[in-house]
Amino acid sequence: MHGIIALVFLISSNVQAECLPSESGNFSHIEQADIMQGRYSLKELLAHGGQFFIQKPNACDGLGRPATTGTGEKRVAIQPAFLRTSGPDSNSCSGCHSQPSAGGSGDFVANVFVLAQAKDPVTFSVAGNQSNERNTLGMQGSGSIEMLAREMTHDLQSQASNLADGIHLLKTKGIAFKIEKRAGKVTRAWGIDSDLVIKPFHQAGVVTSLRQFTVNAFNHHHGIQAEERFIGDFDEDGIDREMTIGDVTAATLWQAHLPIPKQMMPTDPSSIRQVQQGQTLFSQTGCAECHTPALYLNSGKFTEPNPYNPANTWHDITQTYQIALPGKTVAAYTDLKRHNLCDDASQPNPVRFFCNEQLSQGRPDQDGHPGTEYFITRKLWDVGSSAPYGHRGDLSTISEAILMHGGEGRSSRDTFASLTLQEQSSIVAFLKTLQAR
Ligand code: HEC
Ligand code: HEC
Repeated sequence: MHGIIALVFLISSNVQAECLPSESGNFSHIEQADIMQGRYSLKELLAHGGQFFIQKPNACDGLGRPATTGTGEKRVAIQPAFLRTSGPDSNSCSGCHSQPSAGGSGDFVANVFVLAQAKDPVTFSVAGNQSNERNTLGMQGSGSIEMLAREMTHDLQSQASNLADGIHLLKTKGIAFKIEKRAGKVTRAWGIDSDLVIKPFHQAGVVTSLRQFTVNAFNHHHGIQAEERFIGDFDEDGIDREMTIGDVTAATLWQAHLPIPKQMMPTDPSSIRQVQQGQTLFSQTGCAECHTPALYLNSGKFTEPNPYNPANTWHDITQTYQIALPGKTVAAYTDLKRHNLCDDASQPNPVRFFCNEQLSQGRPDQDGHPGTEYFITRKLWDVGSSAPYGHRGDLSTISEAILMHGGEGRSSRDTFASLTLQEQSSIVAFLKTLQAR
């Protein structure tokens, strides 16, 4: 027995955690080259990817990041093994993304204190000047969302490159984006960054791909570093190669492949009529101006990696792997554009519920202000199964979330408020039929 343990320590002499053979390796690993050579079936790849989401890594897998912040910088101050605010904050992705199934949304208790993970020293405070508190999103259908964003980015960038200086309205898939060009460059853009890359992930709309989010999240939540971004034992926990490029590909495909949310119709005729009335009123009330009922893909495939990934995320498109998406119609009820739902504080009875955040998350508005009021139009295709509501998850009913729309959503919100209770109720009844599985 002693001989076996000694051998384990000898083989991995820099391992600080005591990894007994029976405890090591909750995560197994694969290589991208083997994926590309077709050594795994899609089913095997998805099973491999799913383990990263559902299994709980331990110290022997590289859990923890003693020398690294949750945004990936070298850390100076001591980092507690786990901390609800600055992280590592959980044992597995599905610890938060669990409703109604793994990969789904989360309870208020699963909120994340976004940007607290960057702190060195860590913060023990949940106050709004330390982090932006956000509720867990469901990622069913994210493969289709990422492909829509890529196709729209391609359209926007190619249209903009051919335009002269001045203010222009670009259109992609029916969604309009206003931009200003000066000296041949896009200098201002409304509802999107001036690089014209649609970043569909995070409620703030600041992350380009599932892969980029996955690499961020494994470091942030669990202290597991992907070797495509972190060299060697960057976090100094004694474990190397915590996630290979092939592992991140598989974890990304697992998320992209989750079943798409869909409408679950009631069966009795009067409820069906109510839902149909609500669906019509939803458009007539102006909701569909931002919550676009459906966008249409040109391609029915999800390809990994995303060519628009930033430099710190793997994007070698000569090693592209592709899978089929469930269809080309994406009924997600979003325009993938950022909007400001804040009334001006000086107007009478301003609606400012969603204007609670203090920390900038790298999304300046068109005038270079921090943009803390801007959120990407929330996908509603799973709203019937994703309570609680609002970016902080502090609203328990759909109607409260609707009535909190100020700013760009104010006139639509007021129209909703002026409907009869029966009509308002039918809009909510319609929204409740939209569910993730
Ligand atoms: C402590 C809870 C928690 C854990 C653990 C967690 N997440 Fe999340 N996740 C969130 C929250 C909250 C959001 C929304 C963040 C925001 O809007 O700023 C989110 C958003 C996401 C999104 C973007 C979805 C979208 O539509 O914008 C992806 C992708 C994601 N998480 C992947 C992961 C992966 C992969 C893991 C495991 C490494 C993980 N998450 C672990 C809470 C969590
Ligand atoms: C100007 C664009 C815009 C319009 C118009 C608009 N919304 Fe929204 N909606 C948003 C944005 C942005 C969010 C995210 C708000 C947040 O959490 O900060 C949102 C969030 C929501 C939510 C919360 C969803 C969740 O899961 O938390 C619901 C429900 C909703 N909208 C329904 C509606 C309805 C119904 C209408 C019409 C009466 C409407 N919206 C009109 C942009 C809009």
